[in-house]
Amino acid sequence: MNAPRPSAATRRAFVTGASGGIGAAFVDALLAAGYEVWGTARDAARLPARPGFHAVSLDLADGAGAECAFLAAQADAGGAFDVLVNNAGYGVFGPVETQPFSVWATQIDAMFTQTIRLALLALPAMRARGRGAIVNVTSLAVEFPIPGMSGYNAAKAGLSAWTLSLAYELEGTGVAAIDFRPGDVRTPFNTAVVQAPEGARGGDRWGRVWRRFEAMHDVAPAPERIADDLVRALRRGRSGVVRSGSFFQARLAPLLARLGSARLNHVVQARYFDLR
Ligand SMILES: NC(=O)c1ccc[n+]([C@@H]2O[C@H](COP(=O)([O-])OP(=O)(O)OC[C@H]3O[C@@H](n4cnc5c(N)ncnc54)[C@H](OP(=O)(O)O)[C@@H]3O)[C@@H](O)[C@H]2O)c1
Repeated sequence: MNAPRPSAATRRAFVTGASGGIGAAFVDALLAAGYEVWGTARDAARLPARPGFHAVSLDLADGAGAECAFLAAQADAGGAFDVLVNNAGYGVFGPVETQPFSVWATQIDAMFTQTIRLALLALPAMRARGRGAIVNVTSLAVEFPIPGMSGYNAAKAGLSAWTLSLAYELEGTGVAAIDFRPGDVRTPFNTAVVQAPEGARGGDRWGRVWRRFEAMHDVAPAPERIADDLVRALRRGRSGVVRSGSFFQARLAPLLARLGSARLNHVVQARYFDLR
């Protein structure tokens, strides 16, 4: 027998990249906060069944397929979501010259163009109801680009700029656009990173940067802490930037970056990553 449907007052959320890490923690936190949640993975079999949760197969490398999957879920949710969390993403590591163009273009398409496509599909119903939130998960890399992750940095910076542009347009509509920027978080992100030919195993220089990157993730906050910040941001319901992570990365470093010169920030970031 099917479980009873939640009432019309239940809030409904769509979360991409829900099979692990930050996305899985977002799903848990939203379910605990009373939301009905549609969560995605490229293979929906990776998503554990639980009350109030709907598993969706969605691959951002297939834009048309992603659109169909989102629209079907939105119809299933009664025609509108209260919250869209664009969380899915992945890294490609290695110097720009060694990354095949197709790998770079696919990453930008998935993490920028197709991610925005989902927001464009969710927005009309949110506007019509006069409430909702588009949450785009970007990164502290918007402010501190990660060496060896040029495509990732560019996609996140572009997504951040788009989100803040949208925020202007949504003034007074009751719909929020949130640029959600985590610092390092202890998730399986690194194991999914695509290594360019001279990436982590490419010799002293990039090998050192990669080891530094891994060491930072080992001591980073757990995704549950990041999910608490998301739920708080949704309660506030305001557009803008939300930084989440360790005190140093989410509070101190952005403040110091605003006070320092671009050259100083570059030198500090290169030192931080042991880039010699
Ligand atoms: N971890 C960090 O330190 C950190 C810091 C700042 C920002 N972020 C951002 O936070 C988000 C979540 O990262 P995470 O750390 O939780 O990484 P993760 O554990 O590797 O999770 C990434 C999620 O994205 C999904 N995904 C990957 N490629 C996809 C594609 N082509 N189409 C659809 N879904 C795809 C994965 O699902 P399947 O593989 O099951 O399909 C998985 O559920 C990402 O946008 C990441 O850039 C992470």
